[in-house]
Amino acid sequence: MKASVHLRPAKFAPSREIAKLQARLAIAEETIRAIRNGEVDAVIGSGKKGPQVFALESTEHGHRVLIESMDEGALTLTANNLILYANRSFARMVQCPLEKIMGSCFRRFFSSADRALLRPFMKQAGASDAKLQVQLIAADGSCLPVQLSIQELPKLARERVTFSLVVTDMTEARRSESMLRAFTHRVVQVQEAERTNVALELHDNVTQLLLAGLFCSQALVAKLSAYSGPVQAEAMKLRALLGQASAQVERISRDLRPSVLDHLGLDALFRTTGAEFSARTGIPVKLTCVEWAGRLPADTELALYRILQEALKNVEQHARTRHVTVNLSQSGDHVQLTIQDDGTGFNPDKLNGGKHGLGLLGMRERATYVGGKITVKSARRSGTKIEVRIPLSVVVNVADA
Ligand SMILES: Nc1ncnc2c1ncn2[C@@H]1O[C@H](COP(=O)(O)OP(=O)(O)O)[C@@H](O)[C@H]1O
Ligand SMILES: [Mg+2]
Repeated sequence: MKASVHLRPAKFAPSREIAKLQARLAIAEETIRAIRNGEVDAVIGSGKKGPQVFALESTEHGHRVLIESMDEGALTLTANNLILYANRSFARMVQCPLEKIMGSCFRRFFSSADRALLRPFMKQAGASDAKLQVQLIAADGSCLPVQLSIQELPKLARERVTFSLVVTDMTEARRSESMLRAFTHRVVQVQEAERTNVALELHDNVTQLLLAGLFCSQALVAKLSAYSGPVQAEAMKLRALLGQASAQVERISRDLRPSVLDHLGLDALFRTTGAEFSARTGIPVKLTCVEWAGRLPADTELALYRILQEALKNVEQHARTRHVTVNLSQSGDHVQLTIQDDGTGFNPDKLNGGKHGLGLLGMRERATYVGGKITVKSARRSGTKIEVRIPLSVVVNVADA
């Protein structure tokens, strides 16, 4: 015989009645436990219109209707992957009648590679965010990308452990992801093409004009050499300013499209960039660069250089550091770049998009563009470490040391 429980609405209690409240809380907790364990048929709550009865059977019916109307697949499994219950959406996903699903083994809907992932996944069922992305194999052999979310169900007396599983169709999400990736590719391509154009324009026009101005000012200084005084001083100042301006334009044009990369390769460009950075900022850069026997793919080289540029810019603008370490190496079938400073650091999880620029985001996009990944490790007063790993799509031999 099951018990029924009478609930009254909570009333305001002054602080001295904390003990009473604790007692009521204990009763409420016991009630919830009893409901979970199936020891209660109905819950009676008293509202303004008097007592109201909530039959748990009808609540269960409501849950069933809800589960049957979900777009996601929903299942109940035993620890041995036996399907005790599946909703219609799951049947639709695997294109199999419900009667052939219930009582069968859940693992049959997966490839052997995905099955190997299921066992450790089921073990995480207690964790709140246990999720796994796999391919569901339908009756006609087609594959559906899905995400599984698992939860261990409260055990009824003398019953075995069961799990509830939600299966989400990821086709749309994958499509959006790949569209976003294609879009990012295009943005990066257009950006590089535009940078090359601007670099050429600067080099062919502005630099040439500045150099012509520099020669004129040099001639002027030479003609005024017989004189001393403010006019000669102004002419010398003009020559110095034009010299600085043409050097700056050359640097900007080189940053926009580094010809060193095309002609001398990545490690030469890294060395030039590090040396220029140190000369400009006074921050020493410790650079270790593996020597490649061949060249990396052009896109990979450019991505690594752009990431280094952006990371050094951040070091200069935000880190207030005394050292920077840059390391470019090969790790298995990946090329790995780390840029580390010992400066102020920051909390990467607390970046408010509106307040900051697009530097970190741009680095991530550059890495994604060539199939790589980037990790940003940073904490206040502990410095920042940017780690990039890009797969090598071509075999690259590292020269013997
Ligand atoms: N090396 C670093 N040291 C300290 N703070 C950094 C570093 N790199 C990034 N940050 C922090 O992260 C924020 C976002 O960087 P970023 O995306 O490049 O945008 P922006 O540099 O334009 O602000 C910076 O504003 C800064 O607060
Ligand atoms: Mg920045």
